[in-house]
Amino acid sequence: MVATATKDTAIIDPVTRGAGVRRLMVTDFRSYTSAVLESDVGPIVLTGPNGAGKTNLLEAVSMLSPGRGLRRATLSAMVRNGATRWAIAAEAETTEGACAIGTGLNTDNGMERRVARIDGETVGPAALGGLLPVSWLTPQMDRLFLDGASARRRFVDRLIFGFDPGHATRSNAYEKAMRERLRLLKDGRMDTAWLSALEAQMAEHGVAIAAARRAWSLRIGGALRQMTGAFPAAEIALQGLAEEALATQPAVQVEEDLATRWRDGRGLDRHAGRTAAGPHRSDLLVRHVAKDIPAEQCSTGEQKALLISLILADARMQLAERGVVPILLLDEVAAHLDSARRSALFDEISELGGQAWLTGTDRQLFATFGTRAQYFGIDGSLVTPG
Ligand SMILES: Nc1ncnc2c1ncn2[C@@H]1O[C@H](COP(=O)(O)OP(=O)(O)OP(=O)(O)O)[C@@H](O)[C@H]1O
Ligand SMILES: [Mg+2]
Repeated sequence: MVATATKDTAIIDPVTRGAGVRRLMVTDFRSYTSAVLESDVGPIVLTGPNGAGKTNLLEAVSMLSPGRGLRRATLSAMVRNGATRWAIAAEAETTEGACAIGTGLNTDNGMERRVARIDGETVGPAALGGLLPVSWLTPQMDRLFLDGASARRRFVDRLIFGFDPGHATRSNAYEKAMRERLRLLKDGRMDTAWLSALEAQMAEHGVAIAAARRAWSLRIGGALRQMTGAFPAAEIALQGLAEEALATQPAVQVEEDLATRWRDGRGLDRHAGRTAAGPHRSDLLVRHVAKDIPAEQCSTGEQKALLISLILADARMQLAERGVVPILLLDEVAAHLDSARRSALFDEISELGGQAWLTGTDRQLFATFGTRAQYFGIDGSLVTPG
């Protein structure tokens, strides 16, 4: 089944405005055998019944950047049932200009491996970092302020990956050293030189991670305080050993203190089977300014509005600092907002001038978007423009 959707191309300067996809082609991805969607680098609305394939397309776009995408699924879960591999190809306006980007699951030699291509050249998936900054909101994130810290930490880290691909590299290196240290401890191999070397690596990467989060929170803080109206102003704070220490101490001191803490905590970590303290435990605290209450005490709709504030403030910050608006993937966001907030969201997106992908079951929800968006109907994994 091949579905092709075409639309006249609008000219949007990629250097000063939106990163975005102009042509998306998916093959054996989730419910899609093969589909093509062509669009401007502007807002895109996908509507169709439950199970039509809307979120699958957003997931495909999210896979054009490194990481596990908006469902955090395994590579094999994305293979269409009955197929053996999947591929996504896009012609996109990136931070480096117009590019052909591809990614997919390669199963050559019986090994499952993600591969990527940039302008025809095979590269590692990490090379996609920074090319197409993407942020997303999904229904699963509705509980972001209610559940544990890990989802909030991941949310912050993902926003930072968008403009600092090195943050992902450092996070991976930190996790790897932490896993290796725990394995040594669990095996009872108290090789102090080896453990100290791993703790030094963890401290170095950990402080860099915390510093990047702190810098992000300070920069987005200004944009968040300026939010008004439908999407409320928010105060944010990072709760974490290293993030808080960096506010008053030089990085070398924080690094040394972390390494000392881990050295002294070897026995406890060994018994607990996990690393008690460090940047892998940090949390994001969000406060609704006008109501003067923490996000977790806000209503469901207010929490959604706060999340949108965060995503929009991050996009505004990226536009101001780098001249690029990230692609926003907003899955089923419109349905959760009252009509005034819905219209305000469409205005914000239009004003940002980048590419946003919105989904919903009912086209009527998007009426006030009018001609500012491009519409596609999705049904039975068939994409139809208009
Ligand atoms: N690996 C896969 N192979 C085949 N089909 C799949 C695979 N993974 C998911 N699907 C199917 O894809 C279909 C579309 O899913 P998707 O989440 O995109 O729907 P949707 O349009 O977003 O629906 P909703 O409005 O309910 O959110 C579902 O029926 C799902 O079962
Ligand atoms: Mg969906």
